[in-house]
Amino acid sequence: MCGIVAYIGNKNALPILINGLRRLEYRGYDSAGVAILNNGEFLSAKSVGKIDNLATKLNGQDLAGTYGIAHTRWATHGGVTEANAHPHADCTGKIILAHNGIIENYRELKEELGASHTYKSETDSEVLAHLIEIYYKGDLRKAVLEALARVRGTYGLVVMHSDHPNTLIAARMGSPLVVGIGDNEFYIGSDASPMLAYTKKVIFLDDGEVTEISREQMNTVNLKDINVAKHVEEIEWDEAQAQKQGFPHFMLKEIFDQPTVMADAIRGRYNLADGIAHLGGLNMSLEQMHSVKRVVLIACGTASYAALVGKYMFERLAGIPTEVDVASEFRYRDPIIDSQTLVFGISQSGETADTLAALKEAKRKGAFVRGIVNVVGSTIARETDGGVYIHAGPELAVASSKAFTNMVAALLLCALQFGRINKLTLATGQRLLNALQEIPEKMQIILQQSDKIKELAEKYQNCRDFFFLGRGINFPVALEGSLKLKEITYIHSEAYPGGEMKHGPIALLSPQFPVFAIMTKNQLYDKMRSNIEEVKARHAPIILLATEGDDKASELAQDIIYVPPTMEVLEPLLNVIPLQLFSYHLAVALGRDVDRPRNLAKSVTVE
Ligand code: F6R
Repeated sequence: MCGIVAYIGNKNALPILINGLRRLEYRGYDSAGVAILNNGEFLSAKSVGKIDNLATKLNGQDLAGTYGIAHTRWATHGGVTEANAHPHADCTGKIILAHNGIIENYRELKEELGASHTYKSETDSEVLAHLIEIYYKGDLRKAVLEALARVRGTYGLVVMHSDHPNTLIAARMGSPLVVGIGDNEFYIGSDASPMLAYTKKVIFLDDGEVTEISREQMNTVNLKDINVAKHVEEIEWDEAQAQKQGFPHFMLKEIFDQPTVMADAIRGRYNLADGIAHLGGLNMSLEQMHSVKRVVLIACGTASYAALVGKYMFERLAGIPTEVDVASEFRYRDPIIDSQTLVFGISQSGETADTLAALKEAKRKGAFVRGIVNVVGSTIARETDGGVYIHAGPELAVASSKAFTNMVAALLLCALQFGRINKLTLATGQRLLNALQEIPEKMQIILQQSDKIKELAEKYQNCRDFFFLGRGINFPVALEGSLKLKEITYIHSEAYPGGEMKHGPIALLSPQFPVFAIMTKNQLYDKMRSNIEEVKARHAPIILLATEGDDKASELAQDIIYVPPTMEVLEPLLNVIPLQLFSYHLAVALGRDVDRPRNLAKSVTVE
């Protein structure tokens, strides 16, 4: 996720662009840049860090002009540097663009363009400027269309050309773009918030659309250059609602982001024909990978539950003994780590002090140390010798949601990569990848049940205690569901493996103590079913998570949420979503501050 703002009109563009970037800072804030046409030439400024850094840098600079583009970046390809900040230019400096999304085939395109093109950044985006350069024969729209025909991936794209100061091209595929309509002027934004101060009239571009905008008009075509009629909408949202894309809270938006960011996490990282994952960032030779005899996953909170899912994956798919350590414990128990141990630090923020300190300890003891991190260029990303970015985009709600599912996906790809060089068969690798490709669509099916889950949450809003039960790979999901409930509703809850209940916790059960049980169809289904029978016999209310088509689930409970079937090892990617939604809706019903729950911080940089 990144943010784009562009302006074409008669006003001074710079304040519009900078204020617009501030509105979009929630989409990414590792670096920013702006370019404005001034006397026939693009003048630009870039800076690492927040928009304020760019604004300070621009103080005193004369970037006057009425045609410009700006971008706030959330790094995916290429580190956090000024050179990698957008906008990017072609070799002539006449074409300038800002891009959100991922160009999957950028390496092939670069190779094809050859050595005659000079690149100033390590980004995938820059290749687009050069591609447009070679197709440009005087018609910018045609050149963009021809370039896009060559691209595999996603984009929200705005392109300008210094010889066409009354033409701006915008295109969308998978990354949102909104056009704001003023009086002989147009605004573009990744959402409507940058333009709300100037206009309420907007047009939302759809995937596969390219629009050509002058000061006087806009004309939209599809990728085959056929005209598309667009409706002007009057926007009712205020700025905060626009940033949340109409969702009432960032947390709900982030829960609903999951199908999209899951696709981002896996895109281009596997080969179906070979049934294998390719995580180049791991930075390990085949020989080094073969030498790994033990995996240790270190993390805190939600990330540690993703790690527990990862343990199942590494052991089942790769056959490598795997341990999970809560980072704050790891350092103080003199862990046995050697040069045949692979240690992963898993962290959304990449700044968690305990995780960082534990990784340093592991490094000191000679292990391979790698990161599974969301924030590009964060301390953990920099201090490890390689790793996997989870590509979840900025997560702003304090309670983590989409980072969990993308961590699990990253761990799965790692386990698959190790599995295929160890004992995992081609057929299993392929089956797994086929099933993984279906996950984003299955996530959508679950998200459609949000209203039903809301009704359930409201039904249980007066309960003061909850149990979450799961077994096998779903036990960490129960832990994560329980943590979500605690964090954002302040209701007491505990998670147990189903089989543990009878060893003590069952004493707590009563009609006032509901149990949320994960009983999807997998190898432990019958065992879990028996555990739920035990709960039923104690008259505790049961909320059941079951697999679509499980007719017997209704014998155990009235309140059932059905999820689509998938391979057992992938179940956490789906099963966690109803639990996230349940906690979210319950917190809203209780009037809690969902995005900023009491006593918590998004990034825990103290021990
Ligand atoms: C839970 C939550 C925390 C974090 C934990 C680790 O919703 O957000 O438990 O998961 O503080 O943070 P990161 O992943 O940034 O290291």
